[in-house]
Amino acid sequence: MKPFRDKRRDSRSHQLAKGGAEQARGSGTVSGNRTEPKAAPRVLSRRDGALPAEHLPLILEVAPNADYALLDSGAGQKLEQYGPYRIVRPEGQAIWQKALPAKDWDRADAIFTGDTDEEGIGRWRFPKTPLGETWPMKHDGIDYLGRFTSFRHVGVFPEQASHWDHMAGLIAAAKRPVKVLNLFGYTGLASLVAARAGAEVTHVDASKKAIGWARENQEMAGLSQKPIRWIVDDAIKFAEREERRGSRYDIVLFDPPAYGRGPRGEVWQLFEDLPDLTDLCRSILTPKPLAVVLTAYSIRASFFAMHVLMRDTFAGMGGTVESGELIIREKSAGRALSTSLFSRWVA
Ligand SMILES: C[S@@+](CC[C@H](N)C(=O)[O-])C[C@H]1O[C@@H](n2cnc3c(N)ncnc32)[C@H](O)[C@@H]1O
Repeated sequence: MKPFRDKRRDSRSHQLAKGGAEQARGSGTVSGNRTEPKAAPRVLSRRDGALPAEHLPLILEVAPNADYALLDSGAGQKLEQYGPYRIVRPEGQAIWQKALPAKDWDRADAIFTGDTDEEGIGRWRFPKTPLGETWPMKHDGIDYLGRFTSFRHVGVFPEQASHWDHMAGLIAAAKRPVKVLNLFGYTGLASLVAARAGAEVTHVDASKKAIGWARENQEMAGLSQKPIRWIVDDAIKFAEREERRGSRYDIVLFDPPAYGRGPRGEVWQLFEDLPDLTDLCRSILTPKPLAVVLTAYSIRASFFAMHVLMRDTFAGMGGTVESGELIIREKSAGRALSTSLFSRWVA
């Protein structure tokens, strides 16, 4: 097998296009532009064997439900119901007209104003009454906290529910102990769903603050007794360490930002680092793995790009790679809002 790439993870000390703003998906605790000493280069080789079967496009949809609903969208905004609150946020993809009248939008409890850029900073305005930073939310019976963050996020990505349901089904159907690794785990919903389904979970995020929020959610969900390891680390560094230590997982979830920073300033750039991390995810699988699920937000790419990477990386493993988009179905006019691209290998 001939190496086709020889790249150093930390060879890019250049300024990030967005100054690491994406970090704030979790919290934004990293300072400056420090980078760790160079890690050993990962030499990627083409994997031998037949490519997995393929299934695409697969559009996974979240419909309005009692805990969350996309109420309406249009004119560059979206109106969502998160538990008790109606929230308005910028939505660059909503290039159509709003379906609901202004009076419905005017009833919002919180409005994010500021940078309309996907990851831009801004502030929350509370037109009715000032609200606290957090509020109680539920997902499929799991209690957690919604949260107004300065980067417009609200502590959960509801479209991920499609992946959570799928993963919980795999864990239950396995009828054996299942180990799940959740990289870029943020506030931990996926980890909680996996733990409730009976898995032993390792949750990794670069942000100490996000890990704190995730632990709070674990308490809130009444899942404190469930085996979840909370780890503040750089996703690649952690995966490399697990590879060296021989720690293995049945399911790996990775939901990387376009740009991010590890806790010691390690630079994450999706287009540069995704091939390494995908390869690492494969190499830390148990002999009888169940799935590897990749999601990507706010990047200029087609799900085909991720599909090809995943299929190549999982050559020789059998199974199927299914790829497409995660969408949320709107309540008002039934239109679909695309949120992200995904590709998953399923045994
Ligand atoms: C897109 S969010 C993950 C969303 C999450 N999977 C969910 O569904 O709620 C991105 C997360 O990646 C974390 N992050 C950014 N760069 C990282 C890195 N190099 N290593 C580990 N985590 C990182 C951020 O702190 C943030 O919590």
